Amino acid sequence: MTGQLPQHLHDYLASHSFPAAADWPYRICSPGRVNLIGEHVDYTGGLVLPAAIDYSIYFLARPLDEPVWKLHAADLDAAASVALPLDGRTGELWVDYLAGVGTQFQDQGHFLPGLEIVFGGDLPRGSGLSSSAALEGGMAFLLNELLTAALSRPELAALCQRSSNTFLGIPSGVMDQFASLNGSADGPIVLNCETLTSEPVKNEIHGYTWLLANSKVTHDLSDGAYGERVKECQRALEYIQRTYPRVLHLSATLPDQLRRVIEEMDEVAALRATYVVEENTRVRRAVNALEAGSPTEMGELLNRSHAGLRDQYAVTCPETDFLQERSIASDGVAGARQMGGGFGGCTINLVRDDAVEALKNTLTAAYQEAYGRTPEFYPVHITAGTRFI
Ligand code: GLA
Repeated sequence: MTGQLPQHLHDYLASHSFPAAADWPYRICSPGRVNLIGEHVDYTGGLVLPAAIDYSIYFLARPLDEPVWKLHAADLDAAASVALPLDGRTGELWVDYLAGVGTQFQDQGHFLPGLEIVFGGDLPRGSGLSSSAALEGGMAFLLNELLTAALSRPELAALCQRSSNTFLGIPSGVMDQFASLNGSADGPIVLNCETLTSEPVKNEIHGYTWLLANSKVTHDLSDGAYGERVKECQRALEYIQRTYPRVLHLSATLPDQLRRVIEEMDEVAALRATYVVEENTRVRRAVNALEAGSPTEMGELLNRSHAGLRDQYAVTCPETDFLQERSIASDGVAGARQMGGGFGGCTINLVRDDAVEALKNTLTAAYQEAYGRTPEFYPVHITAGTRFI
């Protein structure tokens, strides 16, 4: 396992007089995620196309006899002790991500064991690669094992989402935790967020790299805009249900049904609903484009997704719009779009392998000149979901 754990975590263990990594009885790798397409549709029961990636948070855990969790966030060089049984929020966000998951198990009647946990990794925080979902998913995976709770991976994802929604008050969907826990090394997964069923998609687009460009603009989901979109989608659904009461999720609306009721909607609800319905169609087409090995078709879908996120859904920002525009004007780029919750974070770019270096140089120079910041780039390597190491 030592090959997989980043060196700085070995160093952290040594400098804090902890046992070496191999001597911890529980060792877990909890990956971050990308989303190829299907953005902002998970909380309306839509289709998404995410993948677990090889930037991860690693957990080392050992049982303690006392009723306490001793938690060590290596990358923050922070530690906290939380008494058991858990009793609400602690006031420290990173602790609450873990305590929230524990509380879900506790609420199901489990007695939480005393634990010491060291965690850290190489997943850039605040870049839209879902470090918080990796934190929740890793904790849920660990407790599931320790408590022999026998929850399936989709059930663990739903538990983590509940923790975010109810314990932390973050109204996010299920995609991030699901992708981190259920990702497949065979390729991206197409996930139906209504049924929580997923399957790997065979990516036949060869000779291309999925490249992330981090705008370094960070946005917190607990800020208001995400929650506003969730409410706007609920409002759009209410309009639709006046005529089509059997439509249970906004993403289940057929294009024809939307056309018939759109005039009755307020302008914002109409824009959001149009985006959601079109994005679901794009995900279906994207699955075909991947399986058919068509970078042109896939790229076109990425660009349309970005335009929708910008013009209909209003979750891009000047920096990610800039990176997307410059990228698609560059040689060898099939398409690009804002990825994740929006308002910053990463764009995801489908780039011909031999054009990757030139694209990085072009974007770095242009972005530095326009915004005085240097973007970071990460090539996407798809991995399996949460696992013991
Ligand atoms: C964030 C949320 C997800 C999803 C994306 C947008 O990452 O956590 O649930 O809504 O934004 O697709």
